[in-house]
Amino acid sequence: MTDEDKRLYHSVAPMKRRAEPVAAQSSPGTGGPCIPASRARGPLTIEIKGGELRVVTVAARRRAVICTRELCEPVARPVLKWAGGKQWLAPAARLLMPPNFVGRYWEPFLGGGAFFFALSPKRATLSDRNEELIQTYTALRDDPEAVVELLRRHRYKYRFYYRTRKRVPRSQQGVAARMIYLNRTCWNGLYRVNRQGEFNTPFGDFVHSFVLVTSQR
Ligand SMILES: C[S@@+](CC[C@H](N)C(=O)[O-])C[C@H]1O[C@@H](n2cnc3c(N)ncnc32)[C@H](O)[C@@H]1O
Repeated sequence: MTDEDKRLYHSVAPMKRRAEPVAAQSSPGTGGPCIPASRARGPLTIEIKGGELRVVTVAARRRAVICTRELCEPVARPVLKWAGGKQWLAPAARLLMPPNFVGRYWEPFLGGGAFFFALSPKRATLSDRNEELIQTYTALRDDPEAVVELLRRHRYKYRFYYRTRKRVPRSQQGVAARMIYLNRTCWNGLYRVNRQGEFNTPFGDFVHSFVLVTSQR
């Protein structure tokens, strides 16, 4: 795998950085002091701003911060854009896990897997009812080079897109390459199938560097 391929496929490594609690004496950016959770008089809200996660509430009719934590850089990012994806919350993934968690990570509704990639746990059980999606991840796990090789043959072109959309790949790597290509070139990364289970999202008007790299070679 070239360095560029590694960048694209975000090879999974154990998380090194762990969030350390920020001294909870003042609430940066809010002007007010941090208060204990017992004084909260309103619902607790999580805010993600400026590299920091804040738990915010209302006390004595004023907005008050209960605690702040430094966000963690996700270990890896999703390969696919996915409707309902939690990439925006991924920097807080580590903070939302039990401290020193070493067990098996379970994700029954995987989709783009924003949390899975952000945490990159050593042991995980992942599932989704979308068979093509699971085949894609399986191919990437088992033979990423073959998927990259197939992707290199893809082109960011209108006619190529519709030809690929019609195609039914025979191999698992072929399914993965088609899925990634369509996901990155279709309208808004939307996964949509008709009643026959055929992908029918139209060609999109954006392109991710991933596809550009593959089509320039
Ligand atoms: C909103 S997406 C998950 C997004 C993911 N958390 C992320 O950050 O990208 C929901 C996923 O759940 C899957 N799903 C929905 N109903 C399911 C079911 N009954 N069993 C398994 N997977 C299901 C869908 O195929 C879809 O991929």
